[in-house]
Amino acid sequence: MQRDIGMEFMAASNYPPETRTDEQNGLPRPESPDNSTGPDKIIFKLPSPKDTLYSSHSVYGGSCGSCGCEDPAADPEGFGGPNGRRSLFEILRTRRSIRRYSAEEISAECLSYLLWASCGISGESDGFRTAPSAGAIHPVETSLSIQNCSWLPKKDGIWRYNPTEHELSLVAEGIDAVAGLGRACMMQPQVLRAPVVFFWTAKPYRAVWKYGTRGYRDIFLDAGHICQNLYLAGVDADIGVCAINAFADEAVKAQLRLPEDEIVVYAASCGHKRR
Ligand SMILES: Cc1cc2nc3c(=O)[nH]c(=O)nc-3n(C[C@H](O)[C@H](O)[C@H](O)COP(=O)(O)O)c2cc1C
Repeated sequence: MQRDIGMEFMAASNYPPETRTDEQNGLPRPESPDNSTGPDKIIFKLPSPKDTLYSSHSVYGGSCGSCGCEDPAADPEGFGGPNGRRSLFEILRTRRSIRRYSAEEISAECLSYLLWASCGISGESDGFRTAPSAGAIHPVETSLSIQNCSWLPKKDGIWRYNPTEHELSLVAEGIDAVAGLGRACMMQPQVLRAPVVFFWTAKPYRAVWKYGTRGYRDIFLDAGHICQNLYLAGVDADIGVCAINAFADEAVKAQLRLPEDEIVVYAASCGHKRR
């Protein structure tokens, strides 16, 4: 019978770990998140998520500067979806994978919101995030492939998200880098056309340090939460999202300029829906 390495992995990552973890052995906690800048050191500071159209009382509480709502106090928790905002019920009911996008670019405010909602820091004092993470380790990092974007210093390129500073750092410039990721994702049309594609990657040792081999499971579970956050924020912001797991790992890794100790986990294309 053929060896089933998936089942072997499940057995090897049972809980609690059979051997002591590096945390139990007193080794230092690996640094997280990765706040290093890309080779070009070109940084784009995103607008604060609190200042975007999407940050009305349904997200943050308090009054809204730009969505036109007149009485934030009427529904301080925002559960009822007042003033044209969709309720959580409606967002969940209507979420679908959307693969057909228009050529319209995603604004800086909208991208700020999608990044914050999917994996951004929501706890100003404790650094906690919009997505949960086993042991609050947050092994998952976010890179973006962006094309035809007028407000960025480079209109086509690959960027890395720094959640601590809520900013993007240029990793590679030009349409060739973007096209390379399209090829690495098997030329899926939604990836080729999307103005923005999220790529989630991870440094496994951050999770393995705490949980041993089981940490690999946490990485994939964490990424699932992040992607679902993106789907839901996409419905809220009227942006189509499609999860992507059909990609050639090593080709994506090369295009994203990842270091040896980082793996590619998951991706999602995003764009304005084609009407
Ligand atoms: C883990 C995962 C991987 C996926 N990979 C792809 C993919 O590579 N390409 C694609 O077109 N859709 C992909 N999808 C989207 C699924 O096809 C989609 O979720 C499914 O058809 C159900 O449709 P819905 O999301 O609209 O409910 C993926 C979804 C998940 C959860």
